[in-house]
Amino acid sequence: MGRTIIAPSLLSADFSDFGGALSEIERAGADWAHMDVMDGRFVPNLTFGAKLAQDLRRRSRMFLDAHLMVEDPGAMVGAFAPWVDAITFHIEAATHAHRIVQSIRAAGLKAGVSVVPSTPAAALDALLPFVDIVLVMTVNPGWGGQEFIPECLEKMRYLAQERSRRGLGFLISVDGGIRADTARESVAAGADALVTGSAFFDAQDRAAFVRALRAEP
Ligand code: DX5
Ligand code: ZN
Repeated sequence: MGRTIIAPSLLSADFSDFGGALSEIERAGADWAHMDVMDGRFVPNLTFGAKLAQDLRRRSRMFLDAHLMVEDPGAMVGAFAPWVDAITFHIEAATHAHRIVQSIRAAGLKAGVSVVPSTPAAALDALLPFVDIVLVMTVNPGWGGQEFIPECLEKMRYLAQERSRRGLGFLISVDGGIRADTARESVAAGADALVTGSAFFDAQDRAAFVRALRAEP
């Protein structure tokens, strides 16, 4: 695969200035802006809805990567689809996951599916031929700034192996506790895209941090 995709998460931004945070993400040379949508039910925390995506889209053409941590994600696809480039939902929240993938793709977006740390990657076996992105959560979703769970690396290896064995083309993305060391381990295990929340916004030099995650000089 090509250069590692870096996706800073707006969850760790100053919520009174999302526009400024998106400009920071662009200026740092990152690839995607990751939007953590939480409904206070699938996860205990509550963040933002499609209106934020709409307003960000007005300011920027940057690739917007919506990560829906919500119950009934299928019901939210229509509200986000006009404003974002990818929608990822949780397999744990979906009964008819294939139908949700179809509705995301029918809207012209990349479709992603995610697993929390307690869900095995094999739960996605039947869905792999249909998705563009598999998001491996390496923390329990809900908050930024948590510790990376190293046991989840095995899922990246499994997914990379299944991808080549079955001749598939999805991207493997990883979310939670990404820093220089866990980024390296994830890429070595097969990750193509790295979501980074607190480490990106805490970095003194964000452009240098993005280059470091990509292992660029
Ligand atoms: C967690 C979110 C993550 C979060 C990652 O529920 O899905 O995207 O922003 O934050 P860090 O990088 O601080 O673990
Ligand atoms: Zn996320």
